[in-house]
Amino acid sequence: MAKPHPVLLDVDTGGDDALALLLAMASPTLDVRGITCVAGNCALEQVVTNTLTLLDAIEAPPVPVAAGMDRPVLEPGLPAPPLHGGDGMGDLGLGAPRRSRVDDHAVEFLRRTLSDAEEPMTMICLAPLSNIAMLLRMYPSVGEKIERLYVMGGTYAAPGNTTPAAEFNVRYDPEAASIVLNSGLPVTLYPLDPFMQVRFTKEEAEAMTEAKGAGARIAGGIALHYCRFFGMDFSLIGDAGTVATVIDPEGATTVSRPVHVDLSTGTSRGATVFDRRILTDGFVREGEWTEVDVVTRVDASRYRKLMASALGADEALDD
Ligand code: RIB
Ligand code: CA
Repeated sequence: MAKPHPVLLDVDTGGDDALALLLAMASPTLDVRGITCVAGNCALEQVVTNTLTLLDAIEAPPVPVAAGMDRPVLEPGLPAPPLHGGDGMGDLGLGAPRRSRVDDHAVEFLRRTLSDAEEPMTMICLAPLSNIAMLLRMYPSVGEKIERLYVMGGTYAAPGNTTPAAEFNVRYDPEAASIVLNSGLPVTLYPLDPFMQVRFTKEEAEAMTEAKGAGARIAGGIALHYCRFFGMDFSLIGDAGTVATVIDPEGATTVSRPVHVDLSTGTSRGATVFDRRILTDGFVREGEWTEVDVVTRVDASRYRKLMASALGADEALDD
């Protein structure tokens, strides 16, 4: 087997960030070298607590966890969305964390970790991009040690979720998203289009809560929380789909397209506008545009199986 691929995760844990962390920590193909926290789904301190608690609950190795930006680079931030529950992670009652964060601010932690890395590292960004934008603005040279940024954010052809035009991670900190997407670094964007595809049924989630592994039980509990919150008989795996794309890129369909982040203060603020025109020569394109790789769809069945298998819960799946 090939050596596990070193990765850094930036999260706003968040129930679906927790699903992503469970997959990343369980996957034999990834070597999680650090987790940085940022305000988004809930306040920064709650994000840090949820991340530490989750790692304790699965008896994870001592992976460093650093706290970062407690608000966007420019605005005061949006209210925490209610869908993740009172504690932001599905109210599973996992108790207080035993382990602690590192003292460094997330930006310093990332600078040092990337600077010291022997090889460029992959970053998996599942949250508002405030930490990553500050890192790139304060220490531009670290870009040489970033192999690729996999970013959960934006929409390609799908509607927004936080507003009709914008997806939550980008809308929460549009300026940060613009800085990162226009950085010129290799970016694979995982927008709401594939994000909405990969789901577990309520029955599968219930079966997972009976599984042997703590990770599977927690994943089932989070999925059931979302089923209850939305009154649906399924739950998305959300951010975990982004991690699946890193683990198994063959399961994702990707195109390269110029993208622009709308920084206006109007109703489309935080929209990710893709230039999908075939003929563009001689046509106008105002503002800042950068070509990124964007996942337009994924093999949902393949990624469901990948996640269930990583958590040792293959038998929980109906298909
Ligand atoms: O819009 C979905 C994204 O916003 C996910 O990353 C979710 O965790 C929230 O951060
Ligand atoms: Ca997230």
